[in-house]
Amino acid sequence: NPKQNKQLILNDSRLPFSIRVLLEAAIRNCDEFLVKKGDVENILNWKVVQHKNVEVPFKPARVILQDFTGVPAVVDFAAMRDAVKKLGGDPEKINPICPADLVIDHSIQVDFNRRSDSLQKNQDLEFERNKERFEFLKWGSQAFKNMRIIPPGSGIIHQVNLEYLARVVMDQDGYYYPDSVVGTDSHTTMIDGLGVLGWGVGGIEAEAVMLGQPISMVLPEVVGYKLLGTPQPLVTSTDIVLTITKHLRQVGVVGKFVEFFGPGVAQLSIADRATIANMCPEYGATAAYFPVDDISIGYLMQTGRDKEKVMCTKKYLEAVGMLRDFKNSSQDPDFTQVVELDLHTVVPCCSGPKRPQDKVAVSDMKKDFETCLGAKQGFKGFQIAPDRHKSVVKFNFEGCDFELAHGSVVIAAITSCTNTSNPSVMLGAGLLAKKAVEAGLTVKPYIKTSLSPGSGVVTYYLRESGVMSYLSQLGFDVVGYGCMTCIGNSGPLPESVVEAITQGDLVAVGVLSGNRNFEGRVHPNTRANYLASPPLVIAYAIAGTIRIDFEKEPLGKTVSSETFVVELHQMTEYLWDTKHAIVKKPSKKTLALQTPKTIEDAYVLLSFGDSVTTDHISPAGNIARNSPAARYLTSRGLTPREFNSYGSRRGNDAVMARGTFANIRLVNKFIDKQGPQTIHFPSGETLDVFDAAERYKQAGHSLIVLAGKEYGAGSSRDWAAKGPFLLGVKAVLAESYERIHRSNLVGMGVIPLQYLPGEDAGTLGLTGRERYTIVIPEKLKPQMNVQIKSQMNIVHSSENTQLGDSSVKHSGFIDFMHFSLCFCDSQTLGLRER
Ligand SMILES: *[C@@H]1O[C@H](CO)[C@@H](O)[C@H](O)[C@H]1NC(C)=O
Ligand SMILES: *[C@@H]1O[C@H](CO)[C@@H](O)[C@H](O)[C@H]1NC(C)=O
Ligand SMILES: *[C@@H]1O[C@H](CO)[C@@H](O)[C@H](O)[C@H]1NC(C)=O
Repeated sequence: NPKQNKQLILNDSRLPFSIRVLLEAAIRNCDEFLVKKGDVENILNWKVVQHKNVEVPFKPARVILQDFTGVPAVVDFAAMRDAVKKLGGDPEKINPICPADLVIDHSIQVDFNRRSDSLQKNQDLEFERNKERFEFLKWGSQAFKNMRIIPPGSGIIHQVNLEYLARVVMDQDGYYYPDSVVGTDSHTTMIDGLGVLGWGVGGIEAEAVMLGQPISMVLPEVVGYKLLGTPQPLVTSTDIVLTITKHLRQVGVVGKFVEFFGPGVAQLSIADRATIANMCPEYGATAAYFPVDDISIGYLMQTGRDKEKVMCTKKYLEAVGMLRDFKNSSQDPDFTQVVELDLHTVVPCCSGPKRPQDKVAVSDMKKDFETCLGAKQGFKGFQIAPDRHKSVVKFNFEGCDFELAHGSVVIAAITSCTNTSNPSVMLGAGLLAKKAVEAGLTVKPYIKTSLSPGSGVVTYYLRESGVMSYLSQLGFDVVGYGCMTCIGNSGPLPESVVEAITQGDLVAVGVLSGNRNFEGRVHPNTRANYLASPPLVIAYAIAGTIRIDFEKEPLGKTVSSETFVVELHQMTEYLWDTKHAIVKKPSKKTLALQTPKTIEDAYVLLSFGDSVTTDHISPAGNIARNSPAARYLTSRGLTPREFNSYGSRRGNDAVMARGTFANIRLVNKFIDKQGPQTIHFPSGETLDVFDAAERYKQAGHSLIVLAGKEYGAGSSRDWAAKGPFLLGVKAVLAESYERIHRSNLVGMGVIPLQYLPGEDAGTLGLTGRERYTIVIPEKLKPQMNVQIKSQMNIVHSSENTQLGDSSVKHSGFIDFMHFSLCFCDSQTLGLRER
């Protein structure tokens, strides 16, 4: 009972600050039902318990949702109200228990750019396309208590969280406790830069938290990351974060917390810290925590929070031993392991061409791209024959002649929450634009340039500092506030550019200041995508190619950011369209979840290698014109212009089922070329994945998916679990999983199975052409072994295998699978019982 607990004084001065947050929450919520005394003791005894894989409950103070995941949550709450009403109860009683904020930022696309009214035009289209969803959300914001909805046009969720939503210390009628949050977006970790412990969860878990369930997590190890020294003047926070990302990937921090300390931290602004914390999913940690210090307190003041409240926040944190002084080493906690970085050693860099962790120093970019061109198909290879490396295709754009070659830049986007949140890099970009314009440089007109800042504050300081007009002259007008290019909402490229790329089979390049660059995500026609800081985006846009060595040219200079006082912008309500405020009852297929049963004689729908991302599984971007989803929409009378993106159609299960595994960059081992297709084994035909799944379903066959390492990497996405469920996939066999994706699979009743250490499809001789029987025990426990029988009795028309016993190659039970319901089974089952 919180009222009896008084304020908790933490006096174990060696406990990591991130663990103190878990401890405080456990004590405050200890009710001997969901949170028990034993749990509190386990956390208190972290030093010993951290190595023992012990599960502890965690009740975060808040939940945040973005619109793609938020819509389904509001739909579910509405459905619950319906159900309660049917049972004769009071529907108004169904409300989130802990505060939830829904920020609408994932819907806007770059349809218009390079014109002064781009922002207005793009916002108008956003409204036109999403009217129905927005009206529904508007209803939700009024109907539910404890749920705030931040309208479109306000900015990117994590930026809004930093500037506006984060409390740092919660004040519940005078009762203070540390802020903490889970959000339905993997980059929720950005808020850890401000000292709010938080991370991304699946929409299904987020709803459980909103209903008062704790998250069940393994008490994590905490890697202490010590920062020393001072960065060199040309180095941006982007370069620092890329260096840290690469370093932490090598260290191996999956499933752990990272906590920053050391005198170097005191040199980093909140924007810098947030950038580092944002990339947490890319290095694989659960959270990347910067304890609160005086700089964090200063940020709260600067962003216009109530002064008196900020002082209370500081006093409270001081009193409970949670305010840090990074220069005072006697406050350094005991960590599981300590790693160090001297900030002075960091050099400017980009990453790509296909993965955020593949860092390349700017000075090596040209060489690296040219090596990738010829290298064999893979994360660092495009396999272009040597005689074609110099291919050039001429084309006409708006009456002028241009040329494209391998490495030509066709998209240059300053986008996403991460880099655009940082005034120093944004102003760096602005200054570069100014110098370039003054020197008479331009950006070729066919390059799709755009600027989608994290929030209105960015536009404000770019304008006030006088650099906005230069950015506009180079084509970097503000096109909207939202995730845009970063999540694949890059919109179309000019027809003649697409034709030239196709004609020459060119490796065209997108350069963006986003945080993800997996193939097919940014744009189907840019095979190479480099993540680069905003100044570098501008530099490469001016150069028009990635095959250039900038090393000798200065790219910017440091500015004092004091003059750019960040002003809190108003979260205006102006955008809601009230004309048609009709609540549409969600027409939603009920997903009957059952305890998984034994799976018999399943076929393999798809067989994958490593790093299949949620965007491969359920793309958020463009709906391709020849896809099953497009055929469906066409049959409903829609024209391609009205298709909108998969992301915006997440309220429609018919489209989303068809969009599952519909990424045009999908690499399925059954098929020789890239694309969203597979073999339907009974007939031997090659079909679109959805069509193949339908055929299996009609014949009553179960399906499974085979995969390599890191299955479900990338942004957390409910539909990457719901989609396969709708296709009839009952289990996935992989070497490893991304954490949130795995719990989403569990939430949907799709069983995530993991090969035993040292085993994989290769060592077991599995080709994917077998049929699988998986014995699921009655009582499920985390990490239990299950038995799988695979039988080689598949006829494929192009092979001479015979159906029947004679061809049985793998039979009998092979005890090689490993159940990995580790984190969330108790939670999900608990929910079901209640
Ligand atoms: C600090 O913790 C110890 C137990 O470890 C307890 O005996 C002591 O009273 C605590 N001190 C304060 C100031 O709360
Ligand atoms: C360092 O921190 C410790 C523990 O909070 C405190 O007792 C000490 O006075 C601090 N030293 C300085 C120089 O601030
Ligand atoms: C920012 O830009 C860099 C490229 O310099 C990119 O690799 C990174 O992923 C982007 N995001 C963050 C958080 O740094």
